[in-house]
Amino acid sequence: MRVGIPRETAPDETRVATVPDVVARLKKLGLDVLVERGAGERSGYKDADYEAKGATLVDRAQALGADVVLAVHPPEVDALQPGAVLLALIDPFVHPERVRALADRKVTAFALELVPRISRAQAMDVLSSMANVAGYKAVLLAAARSPKLFPLMMTAAGTVRPARVFVLGVGVAGLQAIATARRLGAVVEAYDIRSDTKEQVESLGARFVEFDLGVGDMQDEGGYARELTDEQKALQVKLMAEKIQEMDAVITTANVPGRRAPLLIPADVVEGMKPGAVIVDMAAESGGNCACTIAGEEVLISGTIVLGPKNIPASVGQTTSQLYATNLQQFLQELVVDGALKLELEDEVQAGTVICHDGAIVNERLKEIAK
Ligand code: NAI
Repeated sequence: MRVGIPRETAPDETRVATVPDVVARLKKLGLDVLVERGAGERSGYKDADYEAKGATLVDRAQALGADVVLAVHPPEVDALQPGAVLLALIDPFVHPERVRALADRKVTAFALELVPRISRAQAMDVLSSMANVAGYKAVLLAAARSPKLFPLMMTAAGTVRPARVFVLGVGVAGLQAIATARRLGAVVEAYDIRSDTKEQVESLGARFVEFDLGVGDMQDEGGYARELTDEQKALQVKLMAEKIQEMDAVITTANVPGRRAPLLIPADVVEGMKPGAVIVDMAAESGGNCACTIAGEEVLISGTIVLGPKNIPASVGQTTSQLYATNLQQFLQELVVDGALKLELEDEVQAGTVICHDGAIVNERLKEIAK
């Protein structure tokens, strides 16, 4: 069975869906690995290194014409073979037209952002891998842009007080942001509407800030946040304003799956922040947690710097490619027996992730959208 890895073509993408070390592991599964020439160039993986691990370098049509295609973003659908399997970040709820096109082409497509968050699937959890790296990088962006140092420094010229950092939203990215800001020596506080996170925040040496919204725990059965009502959102914004205005840096990561990111920092709160304060809005691409955010840009509001970075994982492409490639290999391992494809679409992980098969859309929510 042939596994194809195309070069990513999106202008801001540096990642690649497999790396040389993972090629060796794919070969052990009995697979022929076809890598498009130059696929790893932008993340620092050379053609020769793929070859040395047993991959065959091919042109784009050959990579896309394989039995299984591994990609970061979905490639040209009409270059895929009918009956082929695609593993990629398909973003199916935002791009239902992609799902229709893949179904019409009779591709079996797995949308990796839908991998269920159960223990067995942790090694395949692409969202966690990417969020983890992004949380780290967001703090570096804040530290690099801040006019203040993060750590406490006692020097002959006097003592420099540590920066105060607030992390808003403590999922995977938020936890890594807390850990990174602590490693840089900042004094860190954090908040999430899921009360489970208090203990996690404290175990990282940060302080959990409590705001009483009068709603109890806001965690759903899947471990995700529920959406607050408009009144609860307004109360949260009001209670948090003072805390945010004390900070040197604020990293926002709050998201509710399938919805616009909650707007938690209005413009007047930004205007009241300390001069030189930095906000890094990690929710920029899902609408932004801060009213002043412009995705992909830096905005200056009364001395406060608001960063809305896009595709943070691509800015650390060598590491994120390695993690992504391992997640995909772990997923593919479930689909392959003795070098041949053996789909079990009733299996919890495959069933949760597959979006189209045999010419039909098979995910219930996507079926509704298609109607
Ligand atoms: P996410 O990216 O969907 O959201 C980030 C954070 O924003 C969440 O912690 C959420 O509670 C918070 N949030 C939403 N609205 C907010 C508001 N108004 N104010 C403050 N915070 C708000 O979350 P992510 O990182 O994808 O993780 C979600 C959950 O999944 C977590 O419980 C995590 O522990 C769990 N998880 C489980 C895994 C597994 O068992 N395999 C793997 C990864 C995550």
